[in-house]
Amino acid sequence: MTLSEVRSRYLKFFAARGHNVIPSASLVPENDPTTLFTSSGMQPLVPYLLGQPHPEGRRLTDSQKSFRADDIDEVGDNRHTTFFEMLGNWSLGDYFKKEQLPWFFEFLTDKKDGVGLDPMNLYVTVFAGDSEMEIPADDESVRIWTDLFHSKDIDAKYVALGSEENGSAVGMQGGRIFSYDVKKNWWSRAGVPSKMPAGEPGGPDSEVFYDFGENDGSGRPRHDATFGAHCHPNCDCGRFLEIGNSVFMEYKRREDGQFEKLSQQNVDFGGGLERITAASIGDPDVFHIDIFDAMANVLAVDPAIMETEEGVRKTRIILDHIRAAIFLVGDGVLPSNKGQGYVLRRLLRRTALFSLSVKPKEGWVDSMVKVVAGFYKDSYENLAEDEEKVAMAINEEFGKFMAAVAEGLREFEKRKGAGMITGKDAFDLYQSYGFPWELTQEIATEKGIRVNKEEFEREFTKHRDLSRTASAGTFKGGLADTSEKTVRLHTAHHLLLRALQQVLGPTVKQRGSNITSERLRLDYLHDAKLTDEQKASVEKIVNEKIAEDLPVIRSEMALEDAEKLGAEHEFGQKYPARVSVYSIGPKDATLENPQFDKAFSIEFCGGPHVSHTGEIGHFTIAKEEAVAAGIRRIRGVIE
Ligand code: ALA
Repeated sequence: MTLSEVRSRYLKFFAARGHNVIPSASLVPENDPTTLFTSSGMQPLVPYLLGQPHPEGRRLTDSQKSFRADDIDEVGDNRHTTFFEMLGNWSLGDYFKKEQLPWFFEFLTDKKDGVGLDPMNLYVTVFAGDSEMEIPADDESVRIWTDLFHSKDIDAKYVALGSEENGSAVGMQGGRIFSYDVKKNWWSRAGVPSKMPAGEPGGPDSEVFYDFGENDGSGRPRHDATFGAHCHPNCDCGRFLEIGNSVFMEYKRREDGQFEKLSQQNVDFGGGLERITAASIGDPDVFHIDIFDAMANVLAVDPAIMETEEGVRKTRIILDHIRAAIFLVGDGVLPSNKGQGYVLRRLLRRTALFSLSVKPKEGWVDSMVKVVAGFYKDSYENLAEDEEKVAMAINEEFGKFMAAVAEGLREFEKRKGAGMITGKDAFDLYQSYGFPWELTQEIATEKGIRVNKEEFEREFTKHRDLSRTASAGTFKGGLADTSEKTVRLHTAHHLLLRALQQVLGPTVKQRGSNITSERLRLDYLHDAKLTDEQKASVEKIVNEKIAEDLPVIRSEMALEDAEKLGAEHEFGQKYPARVSVYSIGPKDATLENPQFDKAFSIEFCGGPHVSHTGEIGHFTIAKEEAVAAGIRRIRGVIE
């Protein structure tokens, strides 16, 4: 099915069940200074969920334009987009679980009025309950789902997983209905209950997942053990795609942190339009649905480029970012140095940057705006009306970027000196010519020049207060590079393990790891405390490898080949027949010729990682301690 067909079927389906269709609100929230963008269908409806009567009644349905700046760095895989439409149906103190779940199930499976998905491919989750919050497990939803699957002659075993961690430890267990804790089956604008401010509404939810199958068609297992030992609906390997979430919004957080019932029981249902469309064509890649297909035709990227993983990734980023940018400009945002404008600028600069390598067809921006505006003309007429304005804003920003690139390139030539761009130079390029780090690095790699990332980072930190004012408080993680930092720490983790082996000997083996955006943690087999000297040597090796700016290469291969290479893996982990392996170095390693024999580190790993170690920054060991007999733990940080 096409995107428009799924959207119109959905709205019609709920209209036939007593819902009034309401238009999408703007991507820029009105009267809400706490957030930059509308990122879910709920945002514009908060007052009504709290009890204020809605002029259109108690049953509403819509397709809400949504933008999640937090996901900018996730884009590039098969399912993340920054902009998407969220299909919604709303009960404002009207119906509840026993109407909502059967309706959504019918919409998904009905061939005539719905999407006609095979119910065998649907798996569902419910809230496991939380004793501290004194909120019970959602048994009612389990009963409703059981009956719904039975009505299709599908056995519906219920498996209480309790947590994502347990899910990956025990796997599917032949289940159809699964329960998870607050991290997965509780929804509020602020996230988990502990993050909700007083007065904020939220509630348990029930999610539906589409199963694209255990194998990818060519017999290759979809599950990748780096996401966890076993697959389960909330696993991130890409086998399951979340396509809808029914939030039973009946609670509000009190000042004392406890929860009380709202004055009314609401339903906030949100379903990703693009994802449901992808499920309707049985393709796990949302970039294969009709809108992106039409947009990709405009780019007309050379098929040879599309055969490379990087080419596909960069093209997806361009498709996502340009569509988001068109909608943002359509809602009145213009590139600038603060607020929404800054996010838009970042999207456009990344688009321009990646188009330097995938080289879309000349003059593509105007055609792209035309195609996108035409595609959405029935739902978002304003895009067609504003076509010229939108194209102009984008072209202007690209023009600025390209001028900066040209000027920066001249500057680059002047400064490259003895085969090296200093970190200070790189920072000047960033500060004065708007050269993002990625660009400096890309050009440097092309020209075979080294750039000192560590020094760049130091300069950057020095000036951070300046950029803080630019991207001030309201971002709340929107632009804060949490995921980017996590990725950098992840690569540092590989360097650290290898450095430990070099200093302490090959008996050092990983026995656990955990990475947050703040720090990495590595547990390893060794029976003695690190001496100060050893600690200094380990840090020195890691930082040397960072300074060498080694390429980080991802290869896929048969499990036995990876084992033959001696790729590092965690003891006791089970791996699928084909694995992904990350190698770091040597300097001239490439995707085509990774030169494993000269690599500094090779590990079984699902990534993601930085593309060059220079991006990591300066590494230090923050703490070293014993966790069990013969097992030591290191916490490491980067700046
Ligand atoms: N508001 C819910 C969500 O965004 C439906 O997942």
